[in-house]
Amino acid sequence: MAQYKVPVMAGDGIGPEVIAEGKKVLDAAAEVHGFDMEWIDYPHGADHYLATGELISEDILRELEQYRVIYLGAVGDDRVKPGVLEKGILLAMRFHFDQYINLRPVKLLEGVWTPLKDKGPKDIDFTVVRENTEDFYIGIGGSTKKRASTHELDIIRKLYKVKFDLDIDSDSDEIAYQIGMISREGTERVIRYAFELAQTSRGHLSSVDKANVLTDIYGLWRRIFEEVAADYIDVKTDFNYVDAITMWFVKNPEWFDIVVTPNMFGDIITDLGAMIQGGLGFAPGGNINPDGTSMFEPIHGSAPKYKGMNMANPIATIWAGSMLLERLGEKEAADTVVNAIERNIKEGKVKTRDMGGSSSTSDVGDNIARIIREA
Ligand code: NAD
Ligand code: IPM
Ligand code: MN
Repeated sequence: MAQYKVPVMAGDGIGPEVIAEGKKVLDAAAEVHGFDMEWIDYPHGADHYLATGELISEDILRELEQYRVIYLGAVGDDRVKPGVLEKGILLAMRFHFDQYINLRPVKLLEGVWTPLKDKGPKDIDFTVVRENTEDFYIGIGGSTKKRASTHELDIIRKLYKVKFDLDIDSDSDEIAYQIGMISREGTERVIRYAFELAQTSRGHLSSVDKANVLTDIYGLWRRIFEEVAADYIDVKTDFNYVDAITMWFVKNPEWFDIVVTPNMFGDIITDLGAMIQGGLGFAPGGNINPDGTSMFEPIHGSAPKYKGMNMANPIATIWAGSMLLERLGEKEAADTVVNAIERNIKEGKVKTRDMGGSSSTSDVGDNIARIIREA
């Protein structure tokens, strides 16, 4: 019997509650499909950081390299300054494992409410491929008061090393700056991945940028997109400015098949995508390194106001678990999980508050696991 060892980082806020349901449902799918999940729990998150000062150490990152997949809840806690846990744990893992693809399906399941009037599951069914290692996320910036100063900034990656030496001479009271950077290597690989995906889908790839204003960074993105497109003449393409695409996602979501986007715009447009598929409680994501360790998580955060209330919707996390199974090669089990989510929704009895019901997080997990075992 195949046995998969999977590190789990439940994290903060509602993370532990939704991850518990994800494990429960994946265990049920494993039982039915004849394999075994061995969960290896990691304590990283706000409590662990406050108690030990550790975000995530190099040793732990190296230890995690031996696994193909990681299951993550969410990080972020009001007791810790914004960005500390997010950058120190989540982005640290995305970058360390070079998970350059953030795959975020935007799919309205049958029976789920959408705020879009007159749109249904046939209209809302596309995938966002978000670049996941570059852009304004490289974490390079600073601030300075009125004076001359210098700042040395390094980006050290497997793909490349880049060093900026800034000479700053400012008479403003205070300035802050953040450098956004994309590379040819990093851009080409994600765009190529998106073209390959479009070929297996409906043959349509939409690119997102802001090349009309941030002409250097997204001008390069656009140039590389055009170069790669020449290798995929069977794929229909279009360019979308990020402001406009938020409008089109609302007005005509049916136009989209695969959408490829730089990192920061991808963050923003996928929360919008989540909302048109029923809300953050329904939006899964995968941080993928096709040749290494991938990580699966709901795209929502730790939703601190619902912590410990057994109220959050676990479906995004369970669905992310299905993507994790697919990555492990257990496609049938992955489909079983999504089918069971859909059955749970169609039955319409066990629903969390965001779904218009009053069931708990664990009720939903129990019911989806029951559907899998009874099928
Ligand atoms: P959030 O996604 O945590 O929550 C926003 C709102 O969405 C919630 O208040 C709630 O109304 C709704 N929501 C989210 N998940 C839900 C679920 N499963 N069921 C029902 N409703 C749900 O975003 P936020 O409030 O901006 O961020 C809270 C914290 O999470 C911050 O610290 C942030 O940095 C962090 N964060 C972490 C991740 C991650 O770990 N991947 C992602 C996003 C935000
Ligand atoms: C997400 C989150 C993260 C991001 C944060 C918490 C670093 O918002 O996964 O969408 O911006 O990528
Ligand atoms: Mn986000």
